[in-house]
Amino acid sequence: MGEILKYKKVNHIIKRSIICSVLCCSMLSWAQNLDSLKVEQKKMQWFKDAKLGVFIHWGLYSVNGIDESWSFYNGYISHKNYLKQTKGFTAKKYNPEAWVELIRKSGAKYSVITAKHHDGFALWDTKYGNLNAVDAAASKEDVLTPFVTALRKKNLKVGIYYSLPDWSYNDYTHFTRDSIRYKIQEEPKRWQKFLNYYQGQLKELSDNYNPDLYWFDGDWEHNSEEWQAPKVRQLLLERNANTILNSRLRQHGDYATPEQGMPITRPKNKYWELCMTINDSWGFQKNDHNYKTTNQIIGIFADVIGNGGNLLLDIGPKGDGSIPKEQVEVLEGLGKWTSKHKEAIYGTVAGIPKEHFYGPTTLSKDKTILYLFVKGDPKGEVVIRGLKNKINRIWVVGNGTKLSHKVVGSVYWSHYPGIKYIQMPDYVLDDEMTVIAVLLEGKVDLYREDGAVIESN
Ligand code: GLC
Repeated sequence: MGEILKYKKVNHIIKRSIICSVLCCSMLSWAQNLDSLKVEQKKMQWFKDAKLGVFIHWGLYSVNGIDESWSFYNGYISHKNYLKQTKGFTAKKYNPEAWVELIRKSGAKYSVITAKHHDGFALWDTKYGNLNAVDAAASKEDVLTPFVTALRKKNLKVGIYYSLPDWSYNDYTHFTRDSIRYKIQEEPKRWQKFLNYYQGQLKELSDNYNPDLYWFDGDWEHNSEEWQAPKVRQLLLERNANTILNSRLRQHGDYATPEQGMPITRPKNKYWELCMTINDSWGFQKNDHNYKTTNQIIGIFADVIGNGGNLLLDIGPKGDGSIPKEQVEVLEGLGKWTSKHKEAIYGTVAGIPKEHFYGPTTLSKDKTILYLFVKGDPKGEVVIRGLKNKINRIWVVGNGTKLSHKVVGSVYWSHYPGIKYIQMPDYVLDDEMTVIAVLLEGKVDLYREDGAVIESN
């Protein structure tokens, strides 16, 4: 009997210590996860708050006004003729300070420039190869450094676009659609040579510019192992733990990059950025007149930020470094609107679901101010459905006019909050898009029930 008791006691102690150590372990890993989440949040904060960036595609293709890199890859022009554009890449009218001033005025908080596109033409003075703006083009100078310097001077974040594929480099696998140079399995040493080349260029970029953000592209041509994606991530983070990478490094990045189309439903990713052309081309193409209007871009921008993302709006300067006037006009128009509405844009978070308000919305970080983006003329009133909070004050952003509202359909015996009608006279309307701020009593609280009132009581 004594033996059995002793056995039970020991058994009990063992069980307890197992439970304790499992608990300790899971608490430890929970704490570690929490820590890494905090580190991530801290690193991503400026990006999350920035909302707008300007993307710049500038390279050889800007000279003839043809598709960036793809024109020779797809065989619309020979590689030899494509490279002749080096003669026209003069950068004669290039004014990096004026570029940056335009970017700043647009309301963008960062810019991403194609330091090297798939064609392999580098804008900086790289020691790796001589297909660059200093050695190979009429510009005869490093055109990247002065731009980065000008961005920093104006306190804008620096993003470097870098194409993993380099179709002009002789030891890279792909050349054109119809001609592949070699397969990695057959010539691993040759591939290694390419890896040293591209990782060397990345080290250069990190040494020279210490970018706030790397924007990779073209990862589809090889898998993560072949690119050595984890190693590259580590390499860049060792040099600057705060640098942000987009996800086009075979998912070894920090944020998603939907391209051209505004996602219809809210992306699940915590951090994302829609990259979009100003007309239909990434680089300058004189034949492309299909510019989006300022009003359309503002509408898309509102949709993006309302869903918690950033817009990276692309422009394409010409080979001489001048920015086409249509592009300048759009950026200036955008700037006029963003500066008037800054309180509803920067530092806000994604808004409420569309069922409550038929349009984009954002929320202040503490969720007590709801911003409604109203397109066009709502003919006297805008409607919010199912908002439980009492409204303390309503005003027109950038104009200050106080607005009144009426609640319809709420009854004392139900918690259904009714419909709120905000009166909006036409003299407060913005030419592009009006924004209304709604100060709530407490944090936003929504009625999300789908049942009818009577049955649920
Ligand atoms: C695509 C294209 C490229 C362009 C990029 C911008 O991946 O390959 O030409 O630069 O999108 O997002």
